[in-house]
Amino acid sequence: MADFPAAEFTREQHPAPTANAEREAVLANPGFGKVFSDHMVSIDWHEGIGWHNAQVGPRKPLVLDPAAAVLHYAQEIFEGLKAYRLADGGISLFRPDRNAHRFNSSAERLAMPHLPEETFIGAVRELVLADRDWFPNVEGGSLYLRPFMFASEAFLGVRPAKEYKFLVIASPAGNYFKSGAPAVSIWVSQDYNRAGPGGTGAAKCGGNYAASLVPQAEAIAHGHDQVVFLDTAERKWIEELGGMNLFFVFDDGTMITPPLGGTILPGITRDSLMTLAREEGLSVHEQLYSIDQWRDDARSGKLVETFACGTAAVVTPVGHVAGHDGEFTIGSGGPGQLTTKLREKLVGIQRGTVPDTHGWVTRIA
Ligand code: PLP
Ligand code: COI
Repeated sequence: MADFPAAEFTREQHPAPTANAEREAVLANPGFGKVFSDHMVSIDWHEGIGWHNAQVGPRKPLVLDPAAAVLHYAQEIFEGLKAYRLADGGISLFRPDRNAHRFNSSAERLAMPHLPEETFIGAVRELVLADRDWFPNVEGGSLYLRPFMFASEAFLGVRPAKEYKFLVIASPAGNYFKSGAPAVSIWVSQDYNRAGPGGTGAAKCGGNYAASLVPQAEAIAHGHDQVVFLDTAERKWIEELGGMNLFFVFDDGTMITPPLGGTILPGITRDSLMTLAREEGLSVHEQLYSIDQWRDDARSGKLVETFACGTAAVVTPVGHVAGHDGEFTIGSGGPGQLTTKLREKLVGIQRGTVPDTHGWVTRIA
């Protein structure tokens, strides 16, 4: 299948880019996922041709046939990663090879074509360089990148499509949680599941997020920030949040996170934090943990911290948990010591202020 290293993208400048004053106003208060940069990358795939027509050009609406398979059968996958502006003016990505790899795992599960990892990273790099003026100048700001692929073939039979589009868009991002609260509050979903064995839980496909919207709305309606999902078989084991993995920290220096069993997204932040926590001397285990144990351990004080993590959320303390059968607070209800330390270390590596001893940072400018 044809590959397109960076040099083979055609490049077209936006004829009427966002005015400087307007862009600066956006960059001073970007929020999350609300505004977008001027350009996008697109590459097409057709059966018998492979990947072709790689472009970096003006961001614009797509033209889609109403029978495009994605609109009917949700054959779609995506990734999320951030570009960081470094102190010396350079730009870096954090473990983009892991996103490229996971994208292909998702593609396999959704019966979609593989995209060469170097094409994925090359596409991201092209877009960041085209929109290098779009980094927010706020604390914690970054350029959030959203690579995605969908079935564009006009066909209503249920089978893998024969035509796809891969795109990358960029969005200047500040904090994911707008409340600015020191810790988030979690709602335990009793009535809804995110993913079951043999399903698509380990893939980053749009359908998983569609399924999470009603329970997420339920969480908000009860006054909480996020929903936590339990396993489908026993409704007992903690899995993850709608868009973040979870960690539990105990008073004896152990830390656990639910194991990857096909129903949980293998988070890149999760993987990185396991390494960083071990370096801090913690004993880290991928281990089942039940909702009842979580409540008991929080009440007895054995559990001292819980945090959620992901590209968008970075490392976010969980202070409070509620469900149909009661509520509990974790530690003081605010950020714990280890949570704060791990967050600082991770963010420092991502932003180039802490040495990258793992080869996680890819400098692209
Ligand atoms: N779990 C889900 C369902 C997610 O959507 C995400 C976000 O990408 C994560 C976990 C965290 O993954 P990562 O750390 O790779 O961003
Ligand atoms: C991310 O952290 O990149 C995510 O994809 C989570 C959410 C915004 C869907």
